[in-house]
Amino acid sequence: MNFTSVHDVPDVATLINEAIELKKGPLAFSHLGLNKTLGLVFLNPSLRTRLSTQKAASNLGMNVMAVNADRDSWAIEFQDGAVMNGTTVEHIRDAAPVLGSYCDIIGVRCFPGLVSRDTDYSEHIMKQFLKWTGRPFVSLESATLHPLQSLADCITIAEHRPVHRPKVVLTWAPHVKPLPQAVANSFAEWMCRMDVEFVVTHPPGYELDPIYTGNATIEYNQEKALEGADFVYVKNWSSYSDYGRILSQDAAWMLTERHLAGTAGAKVMHCLPVRRNVEISDEIADSQRSLVQLQAENRVYAAQAVLKRILLENN
Ligand code: CP
Repeated sequence: MNFTSVHDVPDVATLINEAIELKKGPLAFSHLGLNKTLGLVFLNPSLRTRLSTQKAASNLGMNVMAVNADRDSWAIEFQDGAVMNGTTVEHIRDAAPVLGSYCDIIGVRCFPGLVSRDTDYSEHIMKQFLKWTGRPFVSLESATLHPLQSLADCITIAEHRPVHRPKVVLTWAPHVKPLPQAVANSFAEWMCRMDVEFVVTHPPGYELDPIYTGNATIEYNQEKALEGADFVYVKNWSSYSDYGRILSQDAAWMLTERHLAGTAGAKVMHCLPVRRNVEISDEIADSQRSLVQLQAENRVYAAQAVLKRILLENN
């Protein structure tokens, strides 16, 4: 089993329940990963993904080796046939099998360049790690998707689910930098697999690739979209159609208490890190509505459920 998107999970509800069980007894399978090694490669910064995945592996008895490939090791070349007389020092064809020989499972974080949509959406970096390590692979956020985050988000929604079928709204927020679409794409495709009413709202020009939003309702009027919401997921992303560009920094889209007046007492979610008073106001971030710390905590059990499945499959 690899874990690169929701399509690697035939039974999302079962995986969510497995994660919730692990949360009740995190050390119940502490011998499963004995003498197994998880290798974590970060081509980009991380707080939550790195530490939650390390903790998840540790709860399963695994050894963990993590490397910040952007700083700690040699600059990797990903182009086939490259004449390596520039800044890259080691080809992925050489580096990845080395990782594979040291590790039983490999996790990689590889953000998009946000220059070429075709290049980023081909997932050429992730695919080369998948191909050349020869080991089960876990995405720690790729160019287009962040499945461990989305699984943690699904766990959080399951834990706070009202008795009725919940309305979940993904709302775009302003940001000072162009960010990937990965968290939004991923949240959308996982929501499409959950028993929820799912609405996406954003200014014109921020439409996500419909392959991820599926049958979600796309509503350009944020106030209308938020009406009756049980969960409001706040996230910035750069344009997919005008690829990688910031088309709006309209502060009116920042989520404040005023925006939530028409919701059903909505809980507010964000994957973190969040730019306070740009994406979400302090009053929301510090309120009882906020589930962000629970989402971060659930990253441990999301990773643990995935690693447990991979270990069992490869025992
Ligand atoms: N949400 C998330 O992936 O956080 P990090 O970037 O800190 O890992």
